[in-house]
Amino acid sequence: MTNNTKLHEIMSVNNNGSSVFASKVGAILAAAGSAVGLGNIWRFPTETGANGGAAFILIYIFFMAVIGVPIMVTEFAIGRHGGKDVMHSFFKMSDGKTGWKWMGLLPVVAGFLVLSYYAVVAGWTLYYAAVACENGFAGKTSADFAADFAAFSSNPVDPILWLAVIIILTVGVVALGVQKGIERGAKIMMPLLFIFVAILVICSLTLPGASKGLEFLFKPDFSQVTGATALSAMGQAFFSLSVGICCLCTYACYFRKDVNLIQDGVQVATIDTLVALMAGLVIFPAVYSIPGMEPNAGPSLVFITLPNVFQQVFGDVPFLAYSFSLVFYLLLVMAALTSSISMLEMAAAYFHEELRISRPVSAVLVGSVCVVLGGICSLSFGVWSDVTLFGLGAFDLFDFLVAKLLMPLGSLAMCIFVGWVVDEKKVRDELTNGGTINAKVYPVYLFLVRYVAPIGIVLIFVNELSK
Ligand code: PFF
Repeated sequence: MTNNTKLHEIMSVNNNGSSVFASKVGAILAAAGSAVGLGNIWRFPTETGANGGAAFILIYIFFMAVIGVPIMVTEFAIGRHGGKDVMHSFFKMSDGKTGWKWMGLLPVVAGFLVLSYYAVVAGWTLYYAAVACENGFAGKTSADFAADFAAFSSNPVDPILWLAVIIILTVGVVALGVQKGIERGAKIMMPLLFIFVAILVICSLTLPGASKGLEFLFKPDFSQVTGATALSAMGQAFFSLSVGICCLCTYACYFRKDVNLIQDGVQVATIDTLVALMAGLVIFPAVYSIPGMEPNAGPSLVFITLPNVFQQVFGDVPFLAYSFSLVFYLLLVMAALTSSISMLEMAAAYFHEELRISRPVSAVLVGSVCVVLGGICSLSFGVWSDVTLFGLGAFDLFDFLVAKLLMPLGSLAMCIFVGWVVDEKKVRDELTNGGTINAKVYPVYLFLVRYVAPIGIVLIFVNELSK
């Protein structure tokens, strides 16, 4: 290691005086922490179950590779080039074309929206972890699980308290700063998460339904594939990689200059896909081990079907049922936290960097607003279920705005920006670290960002809106 690199490693700020991740591993784990979340362990199995299994997964991986990863790398390039916050990054990358700097508001708006509804489900997972911890699932029937979930999610107070706890934890980490909070949090939680999911996979593969579960996950049946499958697969790829709303762009502002952005993008997407597949390997063998259970239960899969399945499948050994459930819900909580941290950071970074509010104050500010907005989302499962806009309750509306509108449109804007507006030499310089690293895949990246990703997004987006 040269003296220069050593110096870099101990530096905690970049040229702009903004914080940076101390190590390359920290940068990867933080980005992977954002990507790996409820999207992998809750949404991925749900979507896979609803869309027929292996064929959906193959299409999903295809979209990850040709659209998701290029957009992720694009976000990395914009953010690292700016090195401060997203608004500054767009401004700098566009050589001062002020119109583009307003893209810096995208992560602020999206950060508030996405954290507010995500924290509702994260709060549910925390509650389920607490119930699992006190062995509250023991002896329940499948009807009990359905009734319990309906009662809890529609309760006007309890879920809001649990979501507030999630947001307080998130605020705590973000307030500690880039290295001491976000990076350290990712370095502790990501390996733990991996260990937890690996233990659960091993247990699940010993169950009687393992071969049927594996078949569902890995043996494609393309007769099930429709246009809607492709759409869901692309939506899932965006959500799971956290791309399109400048979340990863925000993190990339803290990347050191020696991080290989293309390699990082591929590694993060690989970790993300691996964890999603492992979640599938935990869930489907367990589901197929109980006669009459189907994997297509929809969003309630994780909160009604699974606790029931875990009790039944390990029914003879209560200790196993207890531990499996507890580890599973703790896994969900950790995955949710590493993602919610990145969501809060998106908005908090703006207030901190652009409006010069201290980091802890801006984290508390954003967190407080999200508790209120999240509370409204939570109430849309109960007393405010009749309050709708465009036919959607608050939770579904926020999800629609983020996943179906802001993510594709933000992705499209970034592809146009980097593919067509920014000086190509600047992009190449950023992605090859000033020509110091191998540039062989760069032309492939440029082709995907200029043509494949924008055309793909437009086709799918128009198809969606015309329905
Ligand atoms: N990628 C996260 C997940 O899979 O749970 C969700 C997410 C995080 C979406 C950050 C958007 C975001 F900005």
